[in-house]
Amino acid sequence: MDLLELILFILPAYIANAAPVIFGGRGPVIDFGKNFLDGKRILGDGKTFSGFFSGLACGAAAGYAIAFSLNQFYLPQYGVCEKTVIGIALAFGALAGDLGGSFIKRRLGFERGAQSIFLDQWVFLAVALALAVYAYPALAQEVGLSGLGFLLVATFVLHKATNAAAFWLKLKKVPW
Ligand code: CTP
Ligand code: MG
Repeated sequence: MDLLELILFILPAYIANAAPVIFGGRGPVIDFGKNFLDGKRILGDGKTFSGFFSGLACGAAAGYAIAFSLNQFYLPQYGVCEKTVIGIALAFGALAGDLGGSFIKRRLGFERGAQSIFLDQWVFLAVALALAVYAYPALAQEVGLSGLGFLLVATFVLHKATNAAAFWLKLKKVPW
């Protein structure tokens, strides 16, 4: 995939990761306030059902919208329906990966909202990609090592930039 294709491909994961900042943060938390065996929170107060499901809805909707409207610009060997499935896999993977990242952060002793370089940027991306490749194994070759390298760097930079912007817009309490 070239750069434009890669960006269109990964957008559902980014949107699923970003939407909870706007639509989440309210209602019950996913770990129901419970602690893990180490006495620390399982996931923490930053992971809510409202965030998870709003992220899934926005990511899946974006996956369909991109596949429907920009079909000719990426992954020509897949139809709109398959690309929508890829988008949903990316969105679900991004949200599940984000929960996994928080689980690891709590085990490492980071408080909710604390910055954790690489965990914050790459765990959601890794699980999103893994789930998409699980659904369509040929995607591994489509993305390729150079594509993976690009996504790692681009996601890192974009995550930093969008979180700083969200802080500036008063959507987040911290600039990371
Ligand atoms: N959010 C949510 N539900 C989710 C994911 C995120 O409600 N499943 C919202 C929360 O308001 C959260 C914000 O989006 O504070 C930013 O997400 P993130 O940076 O992933 O959470 P943190 O608060 O930093 O918590 P953690 O340290 O666990 O990453
Ligand atoms: Mg955070």
